[in-house]
Amino acid sequence: MNRNILSGMRPTGPLHIGHLFGALANWKKLQDEGYNCFYMIADYHALSTEYASMGNVKNYAEEVAMDFIAAGLNPEKSTIFVQSMVPEHAELHLIFSMIVPTPWLERNPVYKEQKKQLIAKDLNTYGFLGYPVLQAADILLYKAGYVPIGIDQAPHVELTREIAKRFNYLYGETFPVPEVLLTETPKIPGTDNRKMSKSYNNCIYLKDTPEIIREKTGKMFTDPKRIYKKDPGHPKTCPVFTYQKLFNAGRAGEIERDCRGAVIGCTECKKELGEMLALYLKDIRDKRHALAKDRKALWNILNTGAEKARKTALATMKEARIKTGLKYG
Ligand code: TRP
Ligand code: SF4
Repeated sequence: MNRNILSGMRPTGPLHIGHLFGALANWKKLQDEGYNCFYMIADYHALSTEYASMGNVKNYAEEVAMDFIAAGLNPEKSTIFVQSMVPEHAELHLIFSMIVPTPWLERNPVYKEQKKQLIAKDLNTYGFLGYPVLQAADILLYKAGYVPIGIDQAPHVELTREIAKRFNYLYGETFPVPEVLLTETPKIPGTDNRKMSKSYNNCIYLKDTPEIIREKTGKMFTDPKRIYKKDPGHPKTCPVFTYQKLFNAGRAGEIERDCRGAVIGCTECKKELGEMLALYLKDIRDKRHALAKDRKALWNILNTGAEKARKTALATMKEARIKTGLKYG
């Protein structure tokens, strides 16, 4: 299998610590292991659900790009780019859309689930049904062998594999059949112990200042069974303890013991966490702060990334056109 990697995130806001552990840390590892990595800001994919309110997309794309780089993606090693700046994504998507049977898309569990959940938006659109077709174009344009993603995106890569096989069957061997690289990561709950999500207002963002972090950790949910300090706590069900294990690992054992033994109080525990979390995110925050001050430099990186991505994309597109029979002139 080849060593090309592609993955992406939709620009719908700044990234949080769930993204850091769930994706970015793994993306950085692959980059540092010498894989040929393409990391994309999927603005066309954002359009599929946010088409009625795309006013913030440029700002969000900048936020995501800054978070990528601050978290350790290195534009010298990885190709970091905005999807729509490489128009070949749309072109390959169009060709794929001709060969993908609609039942493949209609039975996609992600599609069914999202349509149920996002009832406030009208998602009875052609583009939303075709979301995984665009994702297949993203992956196959770079002939990626591996796609690092979370389990929720696995059905989309499964469809990508089917699309690659179908294209190869119809027009001859062209695309590698990519494999999922599932990110094995600790699940990080939101500050209220639900899934961390922008819409729940329970995120710790990579860009949060120490003051904001202290405020958020100070208000975190704890063990609901522990009302008074003299009550023994249950760290296993406490989101503060989940964070302690990640951001204050050296002290987690003691905290667990002192929580169970009713020695440490929750206020004190959360205070300590706030300090450790602020410290943990310091380098990322500093780097991000520097990037935010110079948008021109940021766009230089993204323009260069798009140019680099486009070289590969154009070569694949040329091949795909010829294979399909669209060879003129
Ligand atoms: N659909 C992905 C998400 O919502 C983002 C994405 C778009 C992507 N294109 C991709 C991920 C290609 C992996 C590969 O998270
Ligand atoms: Fe959670 Fe810490 Fe309170 Fe124990 S002491 S319940 S780990 S916040």
